[in-house]
Amino acid sequence: MASVAIGEVYKSFGTVEVLHGVSVNIDDGEFVTLVGPSGCGKSTLLRMIAGLEKISRGQIAIGERVVNNVAPKERDVAMVFQNYALYPHMTVAENMAFSLMLKGVSKAESDAGVRRAAEILGLVPLLSRYPRQLSGGQRQRVAMGRAIVRDPQVFLFDEPLSNLDAKLRVQMRAEIKELHQRLKTTTVYVTHDQIEAMTMADKIVVMHDGVVEQIGPPLELYDRPNNLFVASFIGSPAMNLLKGAIAADGPPSFLGAGGISVPLAAPLPIGSGEPVVLGIRPEHLRLSDQGIPVTVVVVEPTGSEVQLIGRTAGGEEIVANFRERHSFTPGETIRLSAEPGLIHLFNGETGQRLETRSRQ
Ligand SMILES: Nc1ncnc2c1ncn2[C@@H]1O[C@H](COP(=O)(O)OP(=O)(O)OP(=O)(O)O)[C@@H](O)[C@H]1O
Ligand SMILES: [Mg+2]
Repeated sequence: MASVAIGEVYKSFGTVEVLHGVSVNIDDGEFVTLVGPSGCGKSTLLRMIAGLEKISRGQIAIGERVVNNVAPKERDVAMVFQNYALYPHMTVAENMAFSLMLKGVSKAESDAGVRRAAEILGLVPLLSRYPRQLSGGQRQRVAMGRAIVRDPQVFLFDEPLSNLDAKLRVQMRAEIKELHQRLKTTTVYVTHDQIEAMTMADKIVVMHDGVVEQIGPPLELYDRPNNLFVASFIGSPAMNLLKGAIAADGPPSFLGAGGISVPLAAPLPIGSGEPVVLGIRPEHLRLSDQGIPVTVVVVEPTGSEVQLIGRTAGGEEIVANFRERHSFTPGETIRLSAEPGLIHLFNGETGQRLETRSRQ
């Protein structure tokens, strides 16, 4: 096992720079997810750790060793891709043993390694099958088996679950997490699915257009997003964001489009009259006589909760989640509010978080 230190890394393809100085420190044994929208540079960064792409500028170290000029096979990392690309003419056992054979490991040692990985992954009864005789989830497990037998210092996963259906994805997500708890191998896991990132990671790296927007434990990112990008990316349904300004006078409050007024906690982190964006998570909204007037547009009961999509007088969309079984009628007007301590504020010009007061 090893730590991974990514220091001010840049990457250009020809004249186009796609990573603009990325720094991430991954501790030994940590499970880190790289998350962000399509094209933000996740795979490129992962492939640079693996040695499949050259680093244009900056440095990557695995353990104590700077690996900028170390060949992929010398880096002691194992990568699992989205299209797991098993060899179709080889059995499960042969697929898993292949890299060991290339390394010149003895037959006995290779058999033992394959057996151990197969036991961990529940693949023992399938060892003599061919990939075409396996389900998608089983194939995915064989791909992980191939990585495990190599007993690498670092596992690298690039969207390994995106070819699976929703139910299997949830199951495999739990299996990979359990596997990590057992093996404790340093893992870097790329996904564009923020739920996957939240549920699996010790630490999330949120990327956007080739830069890191925020790094932290999942709940820290959820509770204290650094900026509007992270606020709207982490959390599903997304945080409600309303544009407006701090009231020029009177008690601390937010004034939004359509005459919305929302009381804020004192002291205010920004001067009166300044433009801000107000953020409220859907589950923090409650029915209240003094709240923001919202016209009900769509009501979606899921059984465990009721999700409401509404519109403010300023025409902005608002989503609220209730655990109680309210029955709303489309077209009716309700009032929603949130405790001042649960309200987020962002600078209306820079999008950066404004710290209201310490939360727990
Ligand atoms: N070989 C290449 N040549 C030129 N541009 C490339 C190459 N590989 C990637 N890019 C560009 O680099 C940027 C980052 O790509 P990358 O594959 O890392 O994104 P990603 O975050 O993994 O996206 P996705 O979620 O769609 O997989 C994109 O703009 C992409 O077009
Ligand atoms: Mg990718």
